[in-house]
Amino acid sequence: MSKPIERWEREHGNFVRLLDLIDDWSERFRAGEPVEYELLREVMYYMTHYPDRYHHPLEDAVFDYLAGRHREFLAPVAELGKQHREIGELGKALVEDLDAIVGGAVVSRAAVVGDAENYSALMRTHMKLEETMLFPAIAEHCTDADWEAALSRVGDGVDPMFGDAVEQRYETVLREIANQVGCDCETGTPKR
Ligand SMILES: [Fe+2]
Ligand SMILES: [Fe+2]
Repeated sequence: MSKPIERWEREHGNFVRLLDLIDDWSERFRAGEPVEYELLREVMYYMTHYPDRYHHPLEDAVFDYLAGRHREFLAPVAELGKQHREIGELGKALVEDLDAIVGGAVVSRAAVVGDAENYSALMRTHMKLEETMLFPAIAEHCTDADWEAALSRVGDGVDPMFGDAVEQRYETVLREIANQVGCDCETGTPKR
């Protein structure tokens, strides 16, 4: 079953671009340079509204089918499910803190930056684990019917940043990605 793997790997690539923004942003903060909290808030808002709602839950659903038939995958599936919960909780806390900062509340900037760095590190480790341990097994053992069943369980969300229609709130993030990777456009598509 290659359809979800191709989609998930493409999405992982998109998420890495956002994690690169988080890391650059936190480096600027640590260097004492001015940073825009709004940018990080939009990145984290996306992470909690697309990956946390659709990408990871679809993975959980397909991982379940795999572990149900091949019990040797029970432990890694349980670990990845635990990471999905941790990623969701940390992301939600970050959005709340960033909302508070942007709204003018007194929140420890250093603590928020530390949380953002932890979030980026966890997501990177998590995606690597999925790509090395489970995606090849899913390609081998799961079927198109599993994917259709997962989609009907979870629902198929529209990606509001990297999909066909970009939500206005994400345009600044995409421009920032375009600046970073050096592309001709404002869609975040790098030069080839
Ligand atoms: Fe995941
Ligand atoms: Fe993933």
